[in-house]
Amino acid sequence: MPSPMDGRSPGSEAPPEAPPTPEDQVLELLGELPRELFPPSFVASVAAIEGYAGAWAVELARRLGLGAPLAAGATAGELVGRLGFVPAFRPALAWVLDRLAAAGLLSAEEAAGGTRYRLAGALPDPERESWRRQALTADPANAPALALFDAAGDACPAIARGEISGEEVLLGPAGSGLWARYFDNANPTYAINNAIAAIAAANRLPGARAAVLEVGAGGGSSSEALLAELERRGAGGRLASFRVTEPSPFFRRRCERSLRRAFPALPLAFGDLDVDQPWGAQGIAPGSVDLVFGVNVLHVARDLAATLGEALAALAPGGWLVAGECLRPFPGQSLSAELVFRLLGDFNDVETDPVCRPNPGFLTPEQWRRSLERAGFEAVDTVPDLVRIRQVDRRFSAGAVCGRRPSGGEPV
Ligand SMILES: C[S@@+](CC[C@H](N)C(=O)[O-])C[C@H]1O[C@@H](n2cnc3c(N)ncnc32)[C@H](O)[C@@H]1O
Repeated sequence: MPSPMDGRSPGSEAPPEAPPTPEDQVLELLGELPRELFPPSFVASVAAIEGYAGAWAVELARRLGLGAPLAAGATAGELVGRLGFVPAFRPALAWVLDRLAAAGLLSAEEAAGGTRYRLAGALPDPERESWRRQALTADPANAPALALFDAAGDACPAIARGEISGEEVLLGPAGSGLWARYFDNANPTYAINNAIAAIAAANRLPGARAAVLEVGAGGGSSSEALLAELERRGAGGRLASFRVTEPSPFFRRRCERSLRRAFPALPLAFGDLDVDQPWGAQGIAPGSVDLVFGVNVLHVARDLAATLGEALAALAPGGWLVAGECLRPFPGQSLSAELVFRLLGDFNDVETDPVCRPNPGFLTPEQWRRSLERAGFEAVDTVPDLVRIRQVDRRFSAGAVCGRRPSGGEPV
């Protein structure tokens, strides 16, 4: 390796180069994604929102009265029993405990009844306002992410006591506006999921005239990202049809209104597919689709293996499934955005499987690979390569899971 002095006189010596930061290293590992997706403001936003989530974990430990039982040591199940919480709150409580343990504020020891947590010292000041300022300084467009977190955090004590459900808080009249602003391409830390999935899907759009089926389109932010990416590439004409489906009439109406306005020339159709029910009976003929697309929906499929089987059957040979997903870098690692979703029954009430889906919610790259391969997909991959990226940055959790229906062989 050349020394820093090589070829220079002592007087002109340049300062030694700083070692690359994890963020710099991630930029080298993006594969098919452009670096422009990850500007410094985005990197700073992720760090600040991570800090904000950690601050909420400390604040919730206080508001939920976890201090005294944790000083003595307790599992999540024991806390639920001792503090009289409803069982539905346990996944959110587990998130609080995981975050505190990850921050070194709790010790965690595996025991017969589950992980036993013990307070390592006094809980610090959460400094939530300081993290909020940092997040808004990084990008004022982070406000909806903070607002959704606040709605979830503020409601936790009442949800824990069973006075209100997570669905009422987050999806009811007061929460649905917050929800819609969060799942929007103007919200940078959510939009990244759509942008990655859109690029991965556009790169894999098969054939000259492709039939696209989107599942779980919600208010349409993921559809918007893919349609905009195709238009940007001048590839709108390659769409034979783009069927946007979403079971919630409220979100479907919203989605249809905005997409028809934004993409009047594209062949859009709208419907209400439920990924948990047989797709053929809902009008999706076997082998009729060239690309099945969805962002942050497949992880709520009740029976993931069955849903992936339906997606495979819907695809024509050689067709692709591209699922934008929040990916869990390492098994058991809790993610900052997860508190909000763990308050919702649909997120938690799914069939698990020790190999492919050991927990509800977000899955690791390996768990997705095993799930897709077991369902019969080939060329399974994540975009970008999370398995390499997580070695340098364990916070990186946005990606797209891709798999192709084999071209040969029997119909599925
Ligand atoms: C997190 S949102 C994502 C929405 C949209 N893809 C986006 O990125 O803006 C998940 C969506 O999945 C939908 N969903 C939930 N369960 C579903 C099911 N069984 N079948 C189809 N969609 C479902 C929800 O209604 C919601 O709109």
